Amino acid sequence: MDKGIGSAEHYTTGEGWTPGDLDFFTVPQKRFTEEEHDIWRALYRRQLDILPKRAISLFMDSLSTLGISQEKVPDFADVNEILMKRSGWQVVPVPGLIPDEPFFEMLANRRFPSGNFIRTKAQMDYIQEPDVFHDLFGHVPILADPVFGDYMEAYGKGGLKAARLGTIDQLARLYWYTVEFGLIKEPQGLRIYGAGILSSPTESIFCLEDPSPHRIGFDLRRVLRTHYHIDDFQDNYFVIDSFQSLFDATLADFTPIYEELAEAPVILPGELHAGDAVLHRGTGTYAAKAAARRAARTKK
Ligand SMILES: [Fe+2]
Repeated sequence: MDKGIGSAEHYTTGEGWTPGDLDFFTVPQKRFTEEEHDIWRALYRRQLDILPKRAISLFMDSLSTLGISQEKVPDFADVNEILMKRSGWQVVPVPGLIPDEPFFEMLANRRFPSGNFIRTKAQMDYIQEPDVFHDLFGHVPILADPVFGDYMEAYGKGGLKAARLGTIDQLARLYWYTVEFGLIKEPQGLRIYGAGILSSPTESIFCLEDPSPHRIGFDLRRVLRTHYHIDDFQDNYFVIDSFQSLFDATLADFTPIYEELAEAPVILPGELHAGDAVLHRGTGTYAAKAAARRAARTKK
């Protein structure tokens, strides 16, 4: 879903793909080397130090239920055996990012494409392209929840519709602010369920504890209008009450909503908007420094 995927190293063009061909991008799972398993172990260990009491409780439970362990990059077939029973989802290896339409079609059929490579030691702190750690560690545990699984399937169906309507950019904001960077209220406090955060040690802390970002109650129309940063911490996070409430809030046909929002101006990251249910008003301190860094980069 990232922008500019055409320039990504791990990317498949989709040439020759026809709608309905669900297996087109699937490849055999890579046999990872010992050095690559070491990278998995290091990434996993680092997140385990951070995520208890920050990740949604389902996440920690699912890691063990699905057999996603620290020991090695899991065998997808083993994970799928349990995942299928829990929620009817499967994770399938693909060479890297795939184009929007086949991606939506896979989700609509409860298949989650996972990168079939792992970052290098030099990329431990940041990688823009989703690798097996981001996809399997970040996304798959949450897919074990049947309601979240239904949400993802509905998102895939909505994506196919958005492709026909020319509204993928708007819909992608929903994916970004929920599946990748979503926060959820749990009885003990705010918790992380977005995979982009769960697979990032720094953002796992930033999103909950830094005073800079706004934390705002989820509102579908608001999210569909809100731009995001693809290469920095978010300036705002949207908070859901439960997966059921997210599913219910996004159940309607979006066609009239896209029409209604066609003339509405986009909302920039970090801007608060009339009607926002602000749970925490951010100071914007980090956001301002990050904006200055981006401006200096564009000047060069
Ligand atoms: Fe992702």
